[in-house]
Amino acid sequence: MIVTDSEQRTAEICADWRAGGLSIAFVPTMGALHRGHESLVELAAASSDRVVVSIFVNPAQFGPNEDLENYPRTLEQDCNKVKELGASLVFTPKADTIYHSGFSTLVAVSHVTEGLCGAFRRDHFDGVTTVCAVLFGIVKPDRAVFGMKDAQQLAVIRRMVSDLRLGIEIIAAPIVRESDGLALSSRNQYLSSEERQQASMISTALGNASDLARAGEKSCELIKNAFLVTLEHSHLLRVQYVETVDPETMIGVETTGKRVLLAVAVFAGKTRLIDNILIEPEV
Ligand code: PAJ
Repeated sequence: MIVTDSEQRTAEICADWRAGGLSIAFVPTMGALHRGHESLVELAAASSDRVVVSIFVNPAQFGPNEDLENYPRTLEQDCNKVKELGASLVFTPKADTIYHSGFSTLVAVSHVTEGLCGAFRRDHFDGVTTVCAVLFGIVKPDRAVFGMKDAQQLAVIRRMVSDLRLGIEIIAAPIVRESDGLALSSRNQYLSSEERQQASMISTALGNASDLARAGEKSCELIKNAFLVTLEHSHLLRVQYVETVDPETMIGVETTGKRVLLAVAVFAGKTRLIDNILIEPEV
């Protein structure tokens, strides 16, 4: 497995693979890899001849008061993990490689970015789409794998790829969870033991809300309420948003019937956690 911070080397190796008729799957990450990321690499390896993983803590997607400085960095362990899973190349660019002098482009997707996380993390998705467009331009993959954990990010990337005719297949990977239901996240390591314990209530609450929908409740207001009620007594958790939206457009929906994404952001102490569940229509 090749590990390189060189954009040119990455582009050349990928071009050679393409010229040799090999397909490339790409997994963009910010490192501090856990089983969630690993599942993406596994899907990538199953789908294509070569897997490229990028590890880049992208400054452009962090707000001024967010955790850019403290974001966990575990490069050596990350490389060992993805090597075992069959990655062929890990691209670890420096910030001034991605944003080289004179860099002046912003890739901004509207509408899909307006609600949910976009309403609270201004400019976040512009940072995500810009870096992904740059990385896609270097790697030129046949397909790229994104986790459903970041459901809005997935929808935004799909929109960008479709609007810009990038010709990259986007594969959605299911959310990987701890045994108590907490969705794996690089940020879980910020949690105190008490916060960590209470954080498992988020997935319990999503489960309760989705059970209510499955039992026939059509009103999204009541479904969202079921989520909130479950968390009422968790004194360390504070809900930032709970929304029911169309999973592709992220537009709010008021009744179930079509597929509905129940998406939430919850603070456990100072750590912001996101999670979601898809509510499928009855068949
Ligand atoms: P990062 O947070 O490192 O996540 C990389 C990928 O892993 C994303 O597609 C994310 O949805 C997926 N992922 C994270 N936790 C997961 C879990 N528990 N189950 C399944 N998949 C999970 O998302 C980013 O980085 C960045 O925004 C990036 C796309 C790399 C652009 O900088």
